[in-house]
Amino acid sequence: MPDAGSKPSRDCPLCPRLVAFREKWRTREPAWFNAPVPSFGNADARLLIVGLAPGLQGANRTGRPFTGDYAGDLLYATLKEYGFARGDYQKRTDDGFTLVDCRITNAVRCVPPENKPTTSEIHTCRAFLTPTIAEMKKLRAIVTLGRIAHESTVQALAAKRSSAAFGHGRKAAIGSFTVFSSYHCSRYNTNTRRLTADMFRAVFADVRTELDDA
Ligand code: URA
Repeated sequence: MPDAGSKPSRDCPLCPRLVAFREKWRTREPAWFNAPVPSFGNADARLLIVGLAPGLQGANRTGRPFTGDYAGDLLYATLKEYGFARGDYQKRTDDGFTLVDCRITNAVRCVPPENKPTTSEIHTCRAFLTPTIAEMKKLRAIVTLGRIAHESTVQALAAKRSSAAFGHGRKAAIGSFTVFSSYHCSRYNTNTRRLTADMFRAVFADVRTELDDA
């Protein structure tokens, strides 16, 4: 596929199922963002967090990754605690909340039905993930949230899956980056306590140590 750049257009036509879903929600909720959600944070950050895809009534409504999504509550509180964010996260894009040396993107930029992107949508949207990583000239650390984001990131880095197996709290060196994998901070994972706030904090404590030592 030709270089698509790091930013899909508002009317990106690449995934027919996601386009149809987007069109349905544009009609139903014209005031919502309803478009590929751009990355949040500066491209000169040393840390990139890769989520799965926008939530329907969260990032797809507001236009900022994890903003208004249940998963954003734990993510943004944890980033703030470890110095990767500042301000008061208020689930709105005009809350003045900013990321510090950190950027957040999604493996799939458009909201998928039932939060489940297909394999081909993940593959197609990698055309944006790959240049998003490539444009980050100071990038040192990547945190992948969940197996899908992890595997898509490993493929975007052109590394072998076996060289960076997914597992909560695992980390792998890929080229000049350290890729930290975490269970996704989704409502399901936190409600079932597959992921606790302490387990999530431990990942960012590890990232903080690595970046501070760099
Ligand atoms: N919202 C996002 O933007 N990404 C996720 O992975 C989950 C919720």
